[in-house]
Amino acid sequence: MNPISKVRVGIVGSRFQADCIASAVKAIPEEAELIAVASPTKGHAADFAKRHSIPQAYTDYRDLLRDPQVEMISITAPNRLHAQITIDAAKAGKHVVCEKPMCMTLEEADAMIDACRQAGVLLLYAEELFFAPKYVKAKQMADEGAFGRVHLVKQGEKHSGPHSPWFWDVEQSGGGAVMDLGCHGIAFCWWFLGKPKVRSVYSLMARQVHRDRTQGEDEAITIVEFENGAVGMVESSWNRPGGMDDCIEIFGDKGQTYADMLMGNALPTYSEVGFGYAVEKAATTKGWTYPVFEEHWNYGFPQEMRHFARCVRGKETPISDGETGRVVQEVLYAAYASAGQGRKIMLPFRPKGVVKPIDLWRTP
Ligand SMILES: NC(=O)c1ccc[n+]([C@@H]2O[C@H](COP(=O)([O-])OP(=O)(O)OC[C@H]3O[C@@H](n4cnc5c(N)ncnc54)[C@H](O)[C@@H]3O)[C@@H](O)[C@H]2O)c1
Repeated sequence: MNPISKVRVGIVGSRFQADCIASAVKAIPEEAELIAVASPTKGHAADFAKRHSIPQAYTDYRDLLRDPQVEMISITAPNRLHAQITIDAAKAGKHVVCEKPMCMTLEEADAMIDACRQAGVLLLYAEELFFAPKYVKAKQMADEGAFGRVHLVKQGEKHSGPHSPWFWDVEQSGGGAVMDLGCHGIAFCWWFLGKPKVRSVYSLMARQVHRDRTQGEDEAITIVEFENGAVGMVESSWNRPGGMDDCIEIFGDKGQTYADMLMGNALPTYSEVGFGYAVEKAATTKGWTYPVFEEHWNYGFPQEMRHFARCVRGKETPISDGETGRVVQEVLYAAYASAGQGRKIMLPFRPKGVVKPIDLWRTP
């Protein structure tokens, strides 16, 4: 393999996150190129391929895996499919970028990691917050010692609820706002603090607004205690109209910093007539809004895909891999169990036979 050639990427899925990954890959033409897409709904893969100038479109992802041109796949299918697609891809010799959350169960996480290890392919966990420029700057300052000993890291991700029906169906998603959004915050706090072991998890979950729409929690606060004594606090909500809100707060004994990824990088705007697009999940562009620019770059998606492509070429070492996904998965289990039992859960926490994380809350 020519070490300076572009990594040839196939995308599994053709909707929200697929568009995001396609745009990210197109933003790094020196490292990677899109060569195939697979999506089961008739016409969707073809439309997606046309939109992003991708040469091959398949309706069955297994055909994409048989395509000898594809080197790395990006899985942007619903959560319940991540494990099977990853294992099939590993068997086909493809590197895997798996969207968050990595899977439904810890057994799946183990099987995904094993399959990729045995096949000698990379399993890369797509946590873009590790690449979000504002958050990377906060971590660089923290690592330089700007805040002294960091003892509290907070991350919140909140919006008005997911765009696709499967997120609301816990059989397909595995849980509500914590599975969907909390996984970002858990990974973020752990990464920010230098990947320390997790000591305990406490979580409070509720269905505050969407009782008629989902069995999943739509509101949660999760507290993660690390072995070094530092604390992570993760707020996850599907109950915040007004567009996506993603913020961090970092506290040490010598200082603190705050970052608002989207509104803080936006143009405070007032319009009586409205305009095309402000930010993800904003219901209106009339009145006061916060239109964001370079949205994908602010999230870190092109930077993430650049890193992953360079990992495939052996130029960089993964900072987010299957082990990262498994750490997050165990904390997700502990969060649901904590909410179910009303007490803090100590790690390691690996109950067997769990079908989906939310069961640990609903039937503790
Ligand atoms: N990193 C992030 O910030 C971020 C943002 C959004 C979504 N995601 C994750 O990406 C994944 C997809 O979410 P989404 O918002 O794009 O959902 P979506 O509903 O918009 O798209 C899901 C896609 O998966 C496809 N699909 C369904 N079954 C399939 C199969 N058997 N084979 C191949 N494709 C299949 C659908 O046809 C659709 O194209 C989820 O795991 C989600 O958590 C991550």
